[in-house]
Amino acid sequence: MRKPMMVANWKMNKTRDEALAFIYAINENLPSCDVVDTVICAPAILLRDLVKRQGDNLRIGAQNMYYEEFGAFTGEISPVMLQTTGVEYVIVGHSERRSLFGESDELVNKKVLSAINHGLKPILCVGETLDQRELGITSSVIRKQLEIALNGVSVKDVSNVIIAYEPVWAIGTGKTAASSDAEEECKNIRQAIKELYNAVTADEMRILYGGSMKPANAKELVSMPNIDGGLVGGASLDPNSFLELVKCCE
Ligand code: 13P
Repeated sequence: MRKPMMVANWKMNKTRDEALAFIYAINENLPSCDVVDTVICAPAILLRDLVKRQGDNLRIGAQNMYYEEFGAFTGEISPVMLQTTGVEYVIVGHSERRSLFGESDELVNKKVLSAINHGLKPILCVGETLDQRELGITSSVIRKQLEIALNGVSVKDVSNVIIAYEPVWAIGTGKTAASSDAEEECKNIRQAIKELYNAVTADEMRILYGGSMKPANAKELVSMPNIDGGLVGGASLDPNSFLELVKCCE
């Protein structure tokens, strides 16, 4: 049985005071980590403060990292730096990184490998654009993203990877994928993992859905057999909304 997981991706939102008020508002009411893994991926500058408040029922993650350990990479944050904050997870290959900051599948692969080598659990994002969906090439686009991003990741290490299926056209648009379509793509992802690794690995891998998930649609999405939780932007910014989302996974 795969444990469900609800991940907030705050993106470039929240000051330190707002972030601490959010944690204070949810901390007492979070379900046990025996039932659901709750994670907040926050801006890098907030990580150290948030990790101080993390417990078994709330884990903290970063939203991005570079793959090198040190060097002349102005503005970047390294996996070694993330390690020192005590975060457990890092989002890799988010579509905003790909489209706004030019990240390629090959760069995403380097980040996945580096995260794993530094003991961080990558939340690897894949997903198609609207054009690709309309062309009917969704599954092959995602398959290619997975194959490149996981190139060189051993069967042992891939068990620490979480995959997030985020159709680009559904992110921040209010347009959620129909639960049957989201299920179909998550099932295809599981099949791809089976072919790239093996059936046991595919069965154990957690696959999240992301893209305009909110309390009103989350229950139906996470009840799908191949959807193990959510990666949520907008609806994770309000503590009550995020708590409701976490509780949809119980
Ligand atoms: P929204 O929930 O705001 O659509 O964002 C989804 C997302 O990009 C999570 O990583």
